[in-house]
This record gives sequence, C-alpha cells and structure tokens, in this order.
Amino acid sequence: MSKNDHSFDTRTIHVGERPEFLEGSRNEVVAPIYLSSTYARKEVKNPGFFQYSRSQNPTRFALEQRYASLENTAYGLGFASGLAAEATVLFALVKPGDHVIGFDDLYGGTKRLFHQWEENYGAKISLVDASQPENIEKAILPETKLIWLESPSNPLLKVCDIKAIAEIAHRHKMLVVVDNTFLSPYFQKPADLGADIVIHSITKYIAGHSDVIGGAIMLNDKTLYERLKFCQNSLGVVPSPFDCYMVLRGLKTLSLRMEKHQSNALSIATYLENHPKVARVYYPGLKSHPQYEIGLRQASGFGGMISFEIKGGEKEAVEFLESLELFTLAESLGGVESLIEHPGLMTHSSITAKERELAGIKDSLIRVSIGVEDKKDLIADLEQAFGKI
Ligand SMILES: Cc1ncc(COP(=O)(O)O)c(C=O)c1O
Repeated sequence: MSKNDHSFDTRTIHVGERPEFLEGSRNEVVAPIYLSSTYARKEVKNPGFFQYSRSQNPTRFALEQRYASLENTAYGLGFASGLAAEATVLFALVKPGDHVIGFDDLYGGTKRLFHQWEENYGAKISLVDASQPENIEKAILPETKLIWLESPSNPLLKVCDIKAIAEIAHRHKMLVVVDNTFLSPYFQKPADLGADIVIHSITKYIAGHSDVIGGAIMLNDKTLYERLKFCQNSLGVVPSPFDCYMVLRGLKTLSLRMEKHQSNALSIATYLENHPKVARVYYPGLKSHPQYEIGLRQASGFGGMISFEIKGGEKEAVEFLESLELFTLAESLGGVESLIEHPGLMTHSSITAKERELAGIKDSLIRVSIGVEDKKDLIADLEQAFGKI
C-alpha cells in the first residue's frame, strides 16, 4: 500500500501490515514479531534484504513504512527512544565548530543532550524564542547548520511558525528539525510545512499506552536518509522487534485517541482558565494563547497537553499534585491515562534553575497530559485537589 492510496485513518491501520507484505506463503493479518537476530543467505556474495537485525528487521521494517506514510515523507527510521533519534541527528550532522539554533522551550532532556554536544564535541548551541521567527534570523551565524524546533513546545506550549522558519532556514542553506511529539502526525505534518527532519518520541502519543520507549525520524531527502540510516546502524540505537509490534498495534487507534485527548483537553483548559486558584493556563487551543492563530493555520488540532501556573509557588503546586487521586503523578505524556507533573522538579530538572527561569518555567508550573477518561471524572479530581490547598 503506497502512502497516497488511502486517508490517514486507514493508513494508521494498514501501512506495513497488509498480508501481501509478508513474503511467500505467510498471510498473517498482524505483522509477526520477528525475533531472529540474523538471517541466512544462500550465496556468500548475495546477502538479501534482511541480514542482521540491527541493520534491518521485518517487524521494524513494517513500522518504518508506517512512520513514513503518516508523516507524508518518503522515509521513516525507528529508534530505541526519542533521545536516541535526537542523538543520531546530532551525531550525523553536527561537527565541532558547527552551530545549532534551538527553541528556548524544548524538552529538558533535549537541552541536556545539546549541552553534552557543546561540552564534549565542540558544537555551539543558541536557544532563542522561536515563536518570533525574526529571533531565528538574528541568531544565524555563518556556521549555523540546524534549527531545532518543537511546536507546541515542552512545557510552555509555545507555537512557532514552521513554514516561515523553514523559509528562513532554506534561504541560508540550513536544515530544520521539528520534534512533532506533542501533536503527532494526526494533527500536524511538519514535513508538509517545509521541515527537513521530523522527530518523535514514540513513547508518547504514537505508542499511546505508556508501555513502550521509542523514537522515530521521518524525512524526504534520500542522501540525508542514507546518512541517518548508516548512523542508526553504526550506533546500534534500534528498537526491539517486540517494541515495534507494540507501536504498530498502538498506532491503530491514533486518530480515535487524539480526538478524545483534544476534546477533553479543551474542556479542562477552559475549566482551569476560569478557576480562581489558577494564575495562567497554557493551551494552544484557547483563544487567549498568544500564537492561537498560527496553531490554527499550520495544524488541524491543538492536542492534549496543558500547562498551568497555580496561584502561590512550589509549596502549593506540590500540595495540589499530591492531593490528586485519578491523575497519576508521573513523567511522560501521551498515554491513554491522564498524567500530571511538576516540570521544575521532574521533566525539566536536568537543566539549571537559571535556565528554567530564563525559559519562563516557574516553580508554580504544572504540566498535564490529558488522557481519554471521562472528562467529568478528571475535572472532579482537579476540583477536589484544588480544595485541599
Ligand atoms: C517533546 C519530547 N521530545 C523528546 C523526548 C525524548 O523522548 P524519549 O523519552 O522517548 O527518549 C521527550 C520525552 O519526554 C519529549 O517530551
């Protein structure tokens, strides 16, 4: 099944997993988990397509076809984690002396990785507020190679104009990487907007059930794909066949899940915006969001992630978080169950307090991954926890 044959919802179920994909007499409806680490060849000089599972594995191959199809790209690559995908991009493309411009509001682990590249491998990283494209233009140096974006960003849900930034980047012969974890390809397709490399933490919405760690890269350029595929194999940062199977399975309900995540999130963001104990709500689907119009233009939805500042500080935030009964206090996001966390003390604790302050991550900030439970139960839980502080 080619990527253009059917609509997105159909492709989440079928691409890579049609019975005809399976060779010979095999006709399973669900792609098997191929555990073999190595593959026999008939002739010494003719290795065949599958040789060794680090280089390629049939279950991973099925999944990589689907990744490419869902992001409307020619190629997809699977990784052992989102950070493994990110490290592979840096390993492949950023050399000593090269410069990378990143959004100032990125996942804490991505910033930690950037710092490692600066300290150990001589790269230079500048973090700027990419919600204003002119800040990107101002930060460009002769040695700038990459622009690294998230939209919406983690944890402040800032939105940047991917198309405008890609135009700036391409004028200066630079590449644009977009981490599309928060919206998933169901709501946003960065490659259609001009991004050269799309990255995912598959761990989140794509796998969708908080039971897989995985990453992906999707892209159109053949030379770049071959370079990244070479690095995927030479670094050995590949997902296990079992995890690939879990993601193929999870993806089948991506459209259904994303719709419910979003409708719940919109109701809860509105509830929070009107709550007397809440100082500020960050959700791209609220008209009060500073980049609401850009989000509306470049994506077909706003997703299921909300951040908000509780009135008070760290003490009130911690009391509130520890009073919740239905929301689970845990890092990560994008699963069917609602998760809640304190970025300053949890997901973004790997960056310094100074950096958090510069990025606008306050001690009163709480980040919520809205699940697919009944929103009445979720709001009742938030209400009882607000009552405790
Ligand atoms: C936006 C974003 N990108 C990348 C990552 C890293 O992905 P992983 O945890 O799968 O390595 C995360 C993890 O939270 C994330 O939120």
